[in-house]
Amino acid sequence: MEISPNLITDVKNRFGIIGTSPTLMAAVTRAIQVAPIDLSVLIIGESGSGKEFFPKIIHNYGARKHSKYIAVNCGAIPEGTIDSELFGHEKGAFTGAVSSRKGYFEEADGGTIFLDEVAELPLTTQARLLRVLESGEFLKVGSSTVQKTNIRIVAATNVDMLKAVEEGRFREDLYYRLSTVLITIPPLRDRGSDIALLARKFASDFAEKYHTKEITFDDSARNMIKQYRWPGNVRQLKNVVEQISLFEAGTEVTADTVAPYIPQNATVCSPTLSSQAKASAHTYEAEREILFGMILRLQKEIETLKNIVMGGSSSQQLLETRSKMAPVDSSMVRYSDYNSDYMQDDEYQNEVSEVESQEISSSMTLEDTERETIRRSLERNGGRRKATAQELRISERTLYRKIREYGLD
Ligand SMILES: Nc1ncnc2c1ncn2[C@@H]1O[C@H](COP(=O)(O)OP(=O)(O)OP(=O)(O)O)[C@@H](O)[C@H]1O
Ligand SMILES: [Mg+2]
Repeated sequence: MEISPNLITDVKNRFGIIGTSPTLMAAVTRAIQVAPIDLSVLIIGESGSGKEFFPKIIHNYGARKHSKYIAVNCGAIPEGTIDSELFGHEKGAFTGAVSSRKGYFEEADGGTIFLDEVAELPLTTQARLLRVLESGEFLKVGSSTVQKTNIRIVAATNVDMLKAVEEGRFREDLYYRLSTVLITIPPLRDRGSDIALLARKFASDFAEKYHTKEITFDDSARNMIKQYRWPGNVRQLKNVVEQISLFEAGTEVTADTVAPYIPQNATVCSPTLSSQAKASAHTYEAEREILFGMILRLQKEIETLKNIVMGGSSSQQLLETRSKMAPVDSSMVRYSDYNSDYMQDDEYQNEVSEVESQEISSSMTLEDTERETIRRSLERNGGRRKATAQELRISERTLYRKIREYGLD
């Protein structure tokens, strides 16, 4: 089926998909093509490559668009409850099942279910899923009454499914059933000039969000981000641009500025894939910095409010200041989104308490906090500036400037 360029543009605009590289366009085209055909689709691509747009395109451009769309993160639901979440349970099916409950397959009857991280499904759930895909039939947990449902499945994964099949972690018959149509999302490093395009868009979005002056990228920076292999793909690029937007607001960013924000051991393209663990470790680091950036901004806002209150400002002034402040609530929602994306709860707790233990008291000004953070980091690194800049994830140039500014030499 021929897809018009206008339709592709509409879809990209509607979902905010940036990029024009042929491989990405091929994936979008394929999603539009398969949308009206009621087949199961498997989306494969590395972590952070943008898989989550695709089930939405398939649902919204297909015949089921007026019915329910339910996204389930199979990796986030405990093994003990996943059958009940997906297929429901009867009252008394297990301890704590005080009433019967509908599962997503009943809830979304007539619509689409997106099974994200599908490779994480336990084998028992895989058996139930195969049955529902083959016959539309399922049983609630604790019930012997067969129920019918009419669901379209779109699944996604960032793991090598054939390897999972080989290792006996995923049923081969289910794999073939799910992947009637396969859509491959290209890794960011293979998207050429899309990288600079995405970086520009994110820079503009973050400048607007944080009310800062937009960063720009010079040729050397553009070259560096094009050469880098982006193991965490678009998600990682977005995090990096966010950090640079916070710490280097309004500057023209060079390769030297970018370097400290991207892991040193993987600055250039290489054909070997890095492990997912590595990618998530990088994102984890990035999260810490984003949280830190937010604390600094909140600190500044508290100071502003305090000055107004102590200075006896009118309530009108207070209102004006509030409206100029960054939308704190939405930042928090965004952070919790990141959190659910990458962090286990206990990791998150550790992270929060670590940041809190930096003793950033509300009586300190933003400058005090920054000076103190830099001073401690210098101390920890025995005065070595390169290591300090790396730890703080700021460029050495910025560190030198701050050291001079705060008289920390
Ligand atoms: N082409 C793109 N244009 C704009 N934003 C994008 C693009 N691709 C990805 N993003 C953004 O990058 C982030 C990561 O994308 P997404 O959550 O879809 O990744 P994923 O492939 O599902 O990764 P994972 O396997 O880790 O779940 C999201 O914030 C998404 O909006
Ligand atoms: Mg995802």
